[in-house]
Amino acid sequence: MRTPTLKPHLNVSDQTNTSVSRKKRSFKPSAEFQRQANLGSMASYKKLHAESVNSPDTFWKRMANEHLVWRKPFTKVCTWKEPHAKWFTGGRLNVSENCIDRHLGTARENKAAIIFEGEPGDVRTITYRQLYFHVSRFAHIFENMGVGPGDRVAIYMPMVPEAVIAMLACARIGAVHTVIFGGFSSEAIKDRINDCKAKLVITADGGWRRGKVVELKSTVDRALAGTPSVQSVIVLKRTGNPVTMQEGRDIWWHDAWKGGPNHHKAKAFDSEHPLFILYTSGSTGKPKGVLHTSAGYLLGAKLTSHYVFDLKDTDRYFCSADIGWITGHSYVVYGILSNGATLFLYEGAPNQPEPDRFWEMIDRHGLTILYTAPTAIRAFMRWGDNYVLKHNLDSLRLLGSVGEPISPEAWLWYHKMIGKGRCPIVDTWWQTETGSIMISPMPGATPCVPGTATLPFFGVSPKFVDDKGKEVPRGTDGKMVITKPWPSMLRTLWGDDERFKQTYFSEFPGWYFTGDGARQDKDGNFWIIGRVDDVLNVSGHRIGTAEVEGALATHPAVAEAAAVGRPDDLKGQALVVFVTLKTGHAATPELKEALRAHVGKEIGAIAKPDQVRFAAALPKTRSGKIMRRILKQIASGGEVKGDTSTLEDFSVVAALQAED
Ligand code: PRX
Repeated sequence: MRTPTLKPHLNVSDQTNTSVSRKKRSFKPSAEFQRQANLGSMASYKKLHAESVNSPDTFWKRMANEHLVWRKPFTKVCTWKEPHAKWFTGGRLNVSENCIDRHLGTARENKAAIIFEGEPGDVRTITYRQLYFHVSRFAHIFENMGVGPGDRVAIYMPMVPEAVIAMLACARIGAVHTVIFGGFSSEAIKDRINDCKAKLVITADGGWRRGKVVELKSTVDRALAGTPSVQSVIVLKRTGNPVTMQEGRDIWWHDAWKGGPNHHKAKAFDSEHPLFILYTSGSTGKPKGVLHTSAGYLLGAKLTSHYVFDLKDTDRYFCSADIGWITGHSYVVYGILSNGATLFLYEGAPNQPEPDRFWEMIDRHGLTILYTAPTAIRAFMRWGDNYVLKHNLDSLRLLGSVGEPISPEAWLWYHKMIGKGRCPIVDTWWQTETGSIMISPMPGATPCVPGTATLPFFGVSPKFVDDKGKEVPRGTDGKMVITKPWPSMLRTLWGDDERFKQTYFSEFPGWYFTGDGARQDKDGNFWIIGRVDDVLNVSGHRIGTAEVEGALATHPAVAEAAAVGRPDDLKGQALVVFVTLKTGHAATPELKEALRAHVGKEIGAIAKPDQVRFAAALPKTRSGKIMRRILKQIASGGEVKGDTSTLEDFSVVAALQAED
């Protein structure tokens, strides 16, 4: 599917054109940070980057051998037959061994792998040795349940260590996990499980969020009414919330646990053995099952964690992303543990019991790195500086941002208020599909300019093109493509290779199309503007407008629906839906609420529209295509600008503007 032309889209979520960005303030890493950094100068960055793009085989061979533990060495670095990449052919390894066993017998064995804090305040520490024991036991349990290499396992869990253990136990036995974010509805779970035909589901009786129990098991139960592939369900007792256990299918985590062996000899798998499927939103109604494989993915996660987070043995690293998202895969689990750092895992909300929870935990646990999203930073700013100033944040040494463009204002607040002017900020651009960070400062090398993700990571070669695929001059907005394969790139979309080709490699043949608009300034820094396709970024979550429209279409009152984004101070983008009703249905406030709830039921609370607007008709072209560009302008309260000559009936626009 071709994405629409550039102009109308690029303006919508452009948060970078502010007064601050025009001043172009630059922040160089301090000499103190540089001295201790894993990469401490621009000269080293430039040298390595040049090698990585000019001699990729030499570069990646060295990195793969230095950073991964192989059972059998690879014989070929990369095979690229567009759009399919194979990395490290002939090699065999085990991803879980690379995250756990490699640290045993070293000084890391008895250090904390995970420090967990539940929302109610319960704290648990799991050493690498203990993690090995937990993962080993569950690897046996899964195998005894008949789960083997290549089988799919769905994980629908709160942010607790058992979620990490479940992922690593899957990796250990070569099973393919698909983690489903705890905010998704039973319908969404059902679709995902059916798409990948998962055999086993791992869930919990609930998790804690804002002082309340989020019920997970009952949601899973509703989904499993329509998932014939599922044979067993393992249920962790987290909250003590009553749940129904189905005889013969469901088993408690603690019962499964009893009496199993403490050691599991991990088998080695092929470099390209599938590691996980992660569903994400695209331009059409059905979520895409992004497939990542073993060695290349792990190398991407490990290497970026080493260089971008400058990870050290002494770090206590906190990433606030949920494991249901790619950030939770690469930078809660795989990248962090493979580097042997200490992961701090927090279950709940940042404002529970008070809006200073993060700062209080950073102080109490002595956390050194914080990786969070601009939407959270905007919330912290809104809650007020006093919540931050109450706490000592001296332990922090590095800050990160991910998920959407960070405005220079938010960047500067983060830098001053949280980083006390001392911590570099890595604004990291990447995607579910890229597997690991693609554009980011190197904290000990790159001068940071607020609002830009700065420079490409090793092996990454982006270009900016116009709608015809012609490169645009520096300083001009373009669509961002990546011109060379990289180890952690997605391999395909699960069960739909055609859609994989179509989505990422058809618009600009030969290049991976990111779906993002961006530009490069005269200093070479990359400014990411936002999606140019029909994907919204609401509070850092990817939401396909087609998915929301599809959900609304299943409501009996809805004749037609169109979903668009409008800029929002807190969420980045808010979701606005325009709905026309079938005859006999009245446009009432109750129906608006019912439609919001309906989307919540079909997809999950994260996709609930912020605003529902009823309309007598939607603006269409003469060929009947809804003109979303116009709806976006109306939703943002702006004037309707641009070419309206293809509009079938302008009075529809006037009527829409008059409403609401
Ligand atoms: O539009 C870009 C935005 O998030 C999209 C990817 O979303 P997802 O696959 O859910 O992964 C999010 C976490 C990696 C991108 O296409 N995005 C991500 N990071 C940034 C960003 N936009 C601007 N700046 C970023 N640092």
